[in-house]
Amino acid sequence: MTKRILSGMRPTGPLHLGHLFGALDNWVKLQKKYECFFMIADWHALMSEYEDPSRLPQYVIESAADWIASGVDPKKSAIFIQSHVKEHLELYMVFSNLVPLGWLERCPTYKEQLRELSSRKLHTYGFLGYPVLQAADILLYRANAVPVGQDQLPHLELTNDIAQKFNNLYGDTFKTIKPLLTKIPKLLGVDGRKMSKSYGNFIALGDSPEVIEEKCSQMFTDPKRIKLSDKGHPDECNLYAYYNLLRKGSAGEVYDYCTNAKKGCTQCKKDLSGVVSDYLSDIRKKRESLLKDKGKIEEILAKGAKKASKAASETMDGVRKAVGLI
Ligand code: TRP
Ligand code: SF4
Repeated sequence: MTKRILSGMRPTGPLHLGHLFGALDNWVKLQKKYECFFMIADWHALMSEYEDPSRLPQYVIESAADWIASGVDPKKSAIFIQSHVKEHLELYMVFSNLVPLGWLERCPTYKEQLRELSSRKLHTYGFLGYPVLQAADILLYRANAVPVGQDQLPHLELTNDIAQKFNNLYGDTFKTIKPLLTKIPKLLGVDGRKMSKSYGNFIALGDSPEVIEEKCSQMFTDPKRIKLSDKGHPDECNLYAYYNLLRKGSAGEVYDYCTNAKKGCTQCKKDLSGVVSDYLSDIRKKRESLLKDKGKIEEILAKGAKKASKAASETMDGVRKAVGLI
């Protein structure tokens, strides 16, 4: 039987290069080998954005467009909205009963998010339960593997702990799931920090060439190269990492002109903006054309939800029996 994969993203902002290299490119490859379920985690988004969800609908539709434009194929994979499959909350409720508070309070991502998003009011009942819902997402589909980045590992461990506790209480129902760690190439934001929505330092998949040029012009370069005549250190320069990732063929040339002080950083940034724009040009065109026909995106999401619901309801039928719900 084809192995099954589930993964998801929260629709809390525009998708950017970090998402493309950190997840989407990998999803596109996995489609060839696995039966894939890709979920827009809107319930999870609402856990942190509940105070102002005004842009949530836009981000949900744009996520779908960005995924498809990046190569996720709705003919092969189910692309769906979490809240459109009712079983997620049902299984979440069942798990809520058996998860000790300590497991959640100790979760490193919980503590980290409270710190990072300190401007939001996240000392809530819902936010503490974030990983419980994620466990429900995963176990609902009886996924064999979950492609995620390193940061999500504590949630997968918790998922297995929850599955085991459920099995102990109600009989063997859930299998252990494996993380499928995605190797994330090092691509920092324009300010040299991790590329992230909360830092606003990203290049979005939908950015126009003008916006890309503006963002590239702000990028941090080798701090030791001050004058044009100073020789640069590409390995310490964020721009060089971009060249390496986006256009490996020209990285050698960049290395050469940088280390020999043959070209200035201003020109190097201008050139890079061209490279990034070219790289994203097909994705940008495809997402624009998809976004012109929202009805078509909604159709894809409805089809995805139908397929997901079928898998989810099979699991939930068994769970209801196991826990004594008639
Ligand atoms: N927590 C994940 C993130 O922030 C998103 C997510 C929600 C997810 N449910 C999931 C990822 C299930 C994998 C599987 O990136
Ligand atoms: Fe970085 Fe390019 Fe300047 Fe070298 S020339 S330091 S690679 S911006």
